Amino acid sequence: MNQNANPYAAAQTGRPGTIGCRVHYFTEVASTQDLARELARGGAGHGEVVVAERQTAGRGRLGRSWHSPAGVNFYGTFILRPAIPLAQVATLSLVAGVAVAQALETVAPRIVSLKWPNDVWLNGRKAAGLIAEAVTDSNHRLTAVLLGIGINLNLAAEDLPPDLSDKATSVLIATGNLCDRAAFADSLFANLDARYSETIAHGFDPVREIWLKYSALTGRRVTVVDGPKRIGGVVTGIDREGALLLDDNGVTNRILAGDVSIEGAYD
Ligand code: BTN
Repeated sequence: MNQNANPYAAAQTGRPGTIGCRVHYFTEVASTQDLARELARGGAGHGEVVVAERQTAGRGRLGRSWHSPAGVNFYGTFILRPAIPLAQVATLSLVAGVAVAQALETVAPRIVSLKWPNDVWLNGRKAAGLIAEAVTDSNHRLTAVLLGIGINLNLAAEDLPPDLSDKATSVLIATGNLCDRAAFADSLFANLDARYSETIAHGFDPVREIWLKYSALTGRRVTVVDGPKRIGGVVTGIDREGALLLDDNGVTNRILAGDVSIEGAYD
């Protein structure tokens, strides 16, 4: 683990209590989630973020790995200190998905969409993923949320591993343009802080409206796999708790977890 001159220094807000107030920058880590957990346990404040150039053991949802080559993308974990019940943590990752979509909109206009629960797409391929891990005390009360965000920015098509080549993309691949990573981080921090603050002040509904505008799934027939369970239907939206709503011949099913595949599309 190395800590070098911080290219994200200018993106730090310096205002305690805002997202992006302080950036802990590393050239290489196993996973920013692990360092953020240590910092959170040591008392790091709301909005501090661990950013790395490269991860050797980046992780995604459902035990998957996250491809994290050096110097091209954004890999960060935000330490959040919301006073919410454990059950609402998943909603925060939907809120963060909207902030990522809005930051991507500035560098890849009109091709951004959201795939429930935590994927951000460019032109229908995955460019970003989010993971929210809870930190709890000995009474199982939430003390922090570790919001991990990986965003493919300047990854070239030839550097995608073969198993991702038909599923994943980056800003560079989708638009042909290189993205200034520090400027992008600045916009990401501002959008995250704004959407998070709205949610804490007014609940999930205002951000949910934006989420629905970006939804890649609404009106699509999907299958959701959650362990041994499989359920199919047409997506009608998400509810106030962030559950995916599926219509199955007039019956609405609420989906709280799982992997969604869309008929006729890559997941
Ligand atoms: C997913 O789509 O499955 C979630 C991917 C989350 C990846 C990010 S990269 C920064 C942070 N550190 C990790 O090890 N994972 C998250």
